[in-house]
Amino acid sequence: MSRKKVIAGNWKMNKTPEETRQLISELIGAVKDAKSDVIICTPYTSLALAVELTQNTNIVVGAQNMHYEQSGAFTGEVSADMLLGLGVKYVIVGHSERRQYFGETDETVNKKVTTALSKGLVPIVCCGESLQQREQGITEELVRSQVIIACNGISKEDVKKIIIAYEPIWAIGTGKTATEQQANDVCKVIRTVIGELYDSETADLVRIQYGGSMNAKNAAQLLSMPDIDGGLIGGASLKAGDFSVITNFNG
Ligand code: PGA
Repeated sequence: MSRKKVIAGNWKMNKTPEETRQLISELIGAVKDAKSDVIICTPYTSLALAVELTQNTNIVVGAQNMHYEQSGAFTGEVSADMLLGLGVKYVIVGHSERRQYFGETDETVNKKVTTALSKGLVPIVCCGESLQQREQGITEELVRSQVIIACNGISKEDVKKIIIAYEPIWAIGTGKTATEQQANDVCKVIRTVIGELYDSETADLVRIQYGGSMNAKNAAQLLSMPDIDGGLIGGASLKAGDFSVITNFNG
């Protein structure tokens, strides 16, 4: 069982095209010796530029969302083919901010995962509990059902390609990181669920990230845990120096 770590930056609604140019110029040198796979998920408006600027580097570009339909009357939306046409390889699906503010549900997450995989985009599927849910003691149940629904109808061959990001909502953007034990416990639950839905060989292959205030200081501890195969990084992905400390972690 040796899963290569995968570190993805989630830029959220940050960086104009000009600022994107600046950050990527810094990132290219900073992450060139990364020990992990390196992904940057930029706003839609920076995707084409990001793909162009990262040609022949070890940085791969992802989007932060997409629609599950192929095309049609969905004003303001972007399809998988549009992303693929730009050279985008990954797409974040079901981020808690999209669930909270934009009506994303477990069912739309499943539709997006299905479409992304059928088109050849790799989904980074987010799950995680709120503080209230953690205090109620239903974290495991909730994350289990998020993962089961996200994987509904997905074949064993396809599920091996996906990345799952465990992101406790209370840790996102708050500076309050889950302890490495808390994070690993839930990542392990996710792996167990994949094993139950498919088999243990498949569960061993799926890469599971932790996300939520991961930064240059706490990344090594989190990434040393056996079931944490990477990170989905918000704030710290906007600073090349901090992001590279995370991508360069060797363990
Ligand atoms: P954060 O965001 O690292 O700023 O907490 C993580 C995320 O939302 O993916």
